[in-house]
Amino acid sequence: MEEYNVARVETGIQGLDEMLGGGIPEKSIILLCGGPGSGKTIMTLQYMMRAVSRGEPVVYVSLEESMEKKTKNALAFGWDLVDAEANDMIETLDIYMVPHSQGVVEPIERRKGKIQFSIENEIETAVKRLGAKHIIIDPVTSILVHESRSGKKRYLIGQLFDTIRNLGCSAVITSEGLPSVGDFYMEQFLSDGVFLLNKDLIDYTMIKTIRIDKMRGINFDDQPRRYIINNRGFQVFSSEPVLV
Ligand SMILES: Nc1ncnc2c1ncn2[C@@H]1O[C@H](COP(=O)(O)OP(=O)(O)O)[C@@H](O)[C@H]1O
Ligand SMILES: [Mg+2]
Repeated sequence: MEEYNVARVETGIQGLDEMLGGGIPEKSIILLCGGPGSGKTIMTLQYMMRAVSRGEPVVYVSLEESMEKKTKNALAFGWDLVDAEANDMIETLDIYMVPHSQGVVEPIERRKGKIQFSIENEIETAVKRLGAKHIIIDPVTSILVHESRSGKKRYLIGQLFDTIRNLGCSAVITSEGLPSVGDFYMEQFLSDGVFLLNKDLIDYTMIKTIRIDKMRGINFDDQPRRYIINNRGFQVFSSEPVLV
């Protein structure tokens, strides 16, 4: 495959950038899949703070877990979200979904408590205000969980991805759980890259691995690689085989 000069964005995850040969291609949409506690949120925060350190503003859409809790947890890694937000380097949208009767689901902003609210509009306004280069959504699953009609789900996901593409941003979107055979995960097909976080018990030892399942436009290391989370964040052992 011909790989010409593709501008890269460092994820800031040690080891993962090596697997990608420098980083993700600029303006890619990455889907990060993994079970609870696998480190998806920590990875999004690390990606965000690396972007901030390069002077690139980020819009962070938080669903499920409150931004307040994430901000507190981030301090353990030395990431000061309050400072970054005060300097207009990040804008956070802290959203929860409220299901009503007749299958209507309404997104509410925790702090603003708005009734009339479109996630896409809020993202667009925030990106334009900051001149943001990155969008993070953690986790996208929340937007879809109350919607049972698959046609509507596809529409919602399509709309979200269109918004991101039109804004010309790079994006990291997390998804709760690993896709299984037979699932029709629209977001996997629309994403440029899919990263999977896995847990396996091998000889009574828990092995956590990351695997790049797909990454459009570049060559990459397609083998699973072990990772750990410590006080410096997410770290991938990209040069060692999983089993030694
Ligand atoms: N300060 C910390 N130091 C080391 N590991 C941590 C720290 N905080 C959280 N972790 C680890 O990260 C995991 C949670 O990561 P998180 O990003 O919230 O997962 P997910 O978003 O995939 O549910 C925990 O299971 C824990 O092992
Ligand atoms: Mg999380």
